[in-house]
Amino acid sequence: MKNFVRLPLTKDRSLKAWNAADEHLLKCIEEENLDVSKVVIFHDRYGYLSTNLAQHSPTTFIYLKSQSDAISTNAISNDIEPKSIRIKSILESASNSNNYIIKIPKSLDLFRLYLIKICDACQADSKVLAGFMTRHFSKSIITIAEEYFENVTQSKAWKKSRVLNLSKPKIIKSRNSNLIHTIIHDDHKYQQYLGVFSAKHIDFATQFLLDHLQAKENENSFLDIGTGNGIIGKHLLDQKSWKNAILMDDSILATASSQLNTSKYPSVEWIADYHLDSFSNDQFDLIITNPPFHFEFEVDPSIALQLMEDSYRILATGGRLIVVANRHLNYKSQLSKWYPSISVLNENEKFVIYEAYK
Ligand SMILES: C[S@@+](CC[C@H](N)C(=O)[O-])C[C@H]1O[C@@H](n2cnc3c(N)ncnc32)[C@H](O)[C@@H]1O
Repeated sequence: MKNFVRLPLTKDRSLKAWNAADEHLLKCIEEENLDVSKVVIFHDRYGYLSTNLAQHSPTTFIYLKSQSDAISTNAISNDIEPKSIRIKSILESASNSNNYIIKIPKSLDLFRLYLIKICDACQADSKVLAGFMTRHFSKSIITIAEEYFENVTQSKAWKKSRVLNLSKPKIIKSRNSNLIHTIIHDDHKYQQYLGVFSAKHIDFATQFLLDHLQAKENENSFLDIGTGNGIIGKHLLDQKSWKNAILMDDSILATASSQLNTSKYPSVEWIADYHLDSFSNDQFDLIITNPPFHFEFEVDPSIALQLMEDSYRILATGGRLIVVANRHLNYKSQLSKWYPSISVLNENEKFVIYEAYK
């Protein structure tokens, strides 16, 4: 099966929807003659594993809205009935199975979250296969795996990838409370699920933005794109009352985290999505974002640029888009293609805050 696209669609043709670690996992399943009749899959970003194992009716846990759409799209383009892959949100409990498969994510917190979910549901003789590219190896992968499993072994390298074999799950208590942790910033406590952006401290670009972000009197609605734990949206909600405030992120764990941090405010909605198609023309007075440009181990500014271009349609006339970014990304020249007026709200040696008006 070879017809796989990435969602959101990327303009970078060098980026692929699977790699040798996925193929290595399938190879191990075949060579070890693993019983995959009730297999449960984690972090299958674009559906390569689920589609290739579709005849076994896998259960696949998704942490992104785009992941769910990518799996269905790629199943269809490989002549697989999407319903043969059972998609579950990562916020649901894991299912009991003999065998679990993980494509190890870049975020080792997210890896930990997957292992916690698995330990919660698996049986004493369950096995986990966890694949990764050798260049992405870190000792912490093994350390974390050994916190949850007695036996952790590593395959030989094949096509520059490896597979970990985990067995004998350890008994761990009160796991679900471990899925959420707290960051303290400026005397506020922010709660967030493992695997959500800025796990150790609030991102420095975001901190710079918050130091210079002031809502205007006549602004009544805003959209925070890529809200993460909701810190930017919360900053705006603390400044005044809004008729409509939307915190949006592709990550289900992020929108759930932003909800934890802003549930006391009226008029807030939390939406897991990765494009702006569901919003109406002229809907927002203000759109704000610290946009994504890292996707797992890859860099792809085209996703952020698409979101900025599409923001124009849903901004009210006279509305503004505020973007904070690393200086080197140089978004200004791109923004000027779509927005008649752009200025620099503030900048320092690392970051720039752009303000673009419709
Ligand atoms: C740089 S982080 C900023 C997070 C948060 N606003 C902060 O300042 O800490 C970018 C966020 O965008 C999210 N994201 C990635 N692709 C997205 C997309 N296509 N649409 C919406 N959010 C996306 C990521 O999950 C991540 O939470």
